[in-house]
Amino acid sequence: MNNFTFCSPTEFVFGRGTENECGKYVRKYGGTSVLIIYGGGSAVRSGLIGRCKASLAAEDIPCEELSGVQPNPRDDLVYRGIEICREKGIDLILAVGGGSVIDTAKAVAMGAVYDGDFWDFFSGRRADKALPVGVVLTIAAAGSEGSADAVITKTEGMLKRGSSSPAIRPKFSILDPELTQTLPAYQTACGATDIMAHTFERYFTNTKEVEITDRLCEAVLLTMVKETPRVIADPDNYDARANIMWAGMVAHNNITGVGREQDWNSHGIEHELSALYDCAHGAGLAVIFPAWMEFVYKHDVMRFCQLATRVFGVKMNFADPEATALEGIKRLRQFLHSIGMPINFAELGAKEEDIPVLVEKFGIGDGETGGFVHLKAADIAEIYRIAAGARL
Ligand code: NZQ
Ligand code: ZN
Repeated sequence: MNNFTFCSPTEFVFGRGTENECGKYVRKYGGTSVLIIYGGGSAVRSGLIGRCKASLAAEDIPCEELSGVQPNPRDDLVYRGIEICREKGIDLILAVGGGSVIDTAKAVAMGAVYDGDFWDFFSGRRADKALPVGVVLTIAAAGSEGSADAVITKTEGMLKRGSSSPAIRPKFSILDPELTQTLPAYQTACGATDIMAHTFERYFTNTKEVEITDRLCEAVLLTMVKETPRVIADPDNYDARANIMWAGMVAHNNITGVGREQDWNSHGIEHELSALYDCAHGAGLAVIFPAWMEFVYKHDVMRFCQLATRVFGVKMNFADPEATALEGIKRLRQFLHSIGMPINFAELGAKEEDIPVLVEKFGIGDGETGGFVHLKAADIAEIYRIAAGARL
């Protein structure tokens, strides 16, 4: 195991009705003038925004609102949020929604206390300060409620880029599994796929002797394989929703990834798909991850056998470990398909002829990228090609 530090200071508030306490937590973390950020309408329709505002009013905390965050959130709304923060003297941002809303809030939080263009933080500069962010989560997926990351798309050139800093870990995150019961099945499945993908990015490592984090990763994956079909079949199943919601946090606050090298190429490869086609991040990952696995599995066949046997119930074939590894990847693809995810470009709405554009936008030129296996531009093109033509 490698040396590491791990600081995950977010206060998590979990369970039924906890969103009604958001005012109390805003006050606890010093908010006296709040900007509530939310998405395209689901949180208004469900009455959640009204409940959050009532909770703030009960604490005599005034608030401004910024609505209309779209999936794969854009920079224009971030600029508007920064303006509001400056004009109104906002001192805490409350994100009510999923990853797109939370990431918008994080970007606004960094930009509001910075003299330059917030995009600097998505072009390599690290933020050392930000306004405090609080979260009321409505979808188990991106893990942004516990992560130090944000992902924003610059409309000019449709560049989807990430930023990472301890300064943007939320101060508190309210997780009420009941809020996720209004999700369409497709969004539930996209979220489940993202949670599994955050685990795979960490699971595939060259670091040896990492039993504890291997087993934590497998716990997340086994939970998702068990609980996702349950909530697809029965969207109101609170207990399955609760397990998935906590799995989403555990999968991405990095407790499963400390002390080990991580990969993250599949996320980068997917981000070009959601930037170009505006598809859901989880759906893009369902197409990319099995293709990436098929491309890299020979790098460490036994690690893929471990996944196949421990998570997907494949019987180890000692005479032919590659067959075991490939059977595990096949079962992953079948599982993703069974929960309603696309498995190839056609099902996702992507086009094979765009592969050169996707690789160009990925932007590594003659360089290499990734932790588990270093990839060059030609490798990334090949992974897109495998994904384009994938079959069950
Ligand atoms: O806008 P509304 O109407 O709220 O609809 C949203 C949206 O259309 C809907 N939704 C959310 N909660 C709902 C609901 N509909 C009904 N009932 C509810 N309770 O779901 C749709 C998707 O929402 P979004 O926030 O985009 O989903 P997600 O949480 O998957 O976030 C995806 C974004 O996060 C980024 C992705 O790249 C993508 O841009 N990521 C962020 C990460 C991070 N910050 O750490 C890591 C991830 O790997 C990921 O890259
Ligand atoms: Zn993700």
